[in-house]
Amino acid sequence: MSEICVITGGGSGMGLAAAKYMPKDKVIVVSGRTMSKLERAVAEIEASGHKAYAHTCDTSDRNSVRELAEFCAGLGKITNVINAAGLSPAMAKQEQLIRVNALGTVYVNQEFSKKMEAGSVILDVSSNSAYLLPKFLINEKQYKLALKDEDKFVQKMIKKSNLAKTDYNKAGFAYALSKNFVLWYARYSAKEYGKRGIRVLSLSPGLIATDMGNLESDNAGDMVSQTAEKRMGKPEELGYAIATAVDERNGYLAGVDILCDGGATTLKKL
Ligand SMILES: NC(=O)c1ccc[n+]([C@@H]2O[C@H](COP(=O)([O-])OP(=O)(O)OC[C@H]3O[C@@H](n4cnc5c(N)ncnc54)[C@H](OP(=O)(O)O)[C@@H]3O)[C@@H](O)[C@H]2O)c1
Repeated sequence: MSEICVITGGGSGMGLAAAKYMPKDKVIVVSGRTMSKLERAVAEIEASGHKAYAHTCDTSDRNSVRELAEFCAGLGKITNVINAAGLSPAMAKQEQLIRVNALGTVYVNQEFSKKMEAGSVILDVSSNSAYLLPKFLINEKQYKLALKDEDKFVQKMIKKSNLAKTDYNKAGFAYALSKNFVLWYARYSAKEYGKRGIRVLSLSPGLIATDMGNLESDNAGDMVSQTAEKRMGKPEELGYAIATAVDERNGYLAGVDILCDGGATTLKKL
């Protein structure tokens, strides 16, 4: 039976880079909202020696995620889920950022875990911006609302992000909050699905030269000068980090976040 690695947001950036570092015997499914992008990604992944499929999915829509999970399960045994789909402050307003980045992660983890077995792994991509929020904005009790009352959860997250002054900063707060939620929810999922032998972890990139990172770079403040090497990350560096984190040989890496930001978050405290 084929082993399937599904990558949401796999049509570009780090998700696409990760695909190329996966073992060649894994069948790759890339998904996102734009079929033309996915078809180009499939051609690149096949050129690197994998069998690959494109399947559209909007991760902010549970039915769309469920349908993607069914498609993948129909191809073989789902062993690796890399949830890299995401939108940034320059791309969307507060509500969409929260629905895609936060609720999308809930849908991906919940719908895929139903189809996964012991020995498989889910990696949720967060962001180092999750570490930059003032402590008073972080309320894990409120995060649990995402599992009970999605609309109330979204409203509360928007209300908090409205504490910022400008429109861009409101979106920036919503983005950082949605990614802080991802840190919490990946840990929550690790506990929940660990009982069934499914490993869950998150990975937080810093500023990376993908379509998204290049779009955000003008607003990134000191993010580059605070890194050890004073540079943005390369998509392939993040792709390699993601692919190794989801390798079966890393079976004891669960319930943690891997902060992969060139030192931007930790070095500024020195
Ligand atoms: N680049 C950075 O500096 C940076 C820093 C920290 C964290 N991150 C995170 O890293 C992840 C990967 O981003 P990237 O930098 O590789 O940027 P990217 O190239 O823009 O990749 C993001 C992908 O997500 C897909 N996507 C967006 N909304 C979606 C939705 N609702 N449903 C399904 N797919 C969706 C996009 O395709 P479609 O538009 O076709 O759907 C796109 O291919 C994101 O979660 C991002 O938040 C990036």
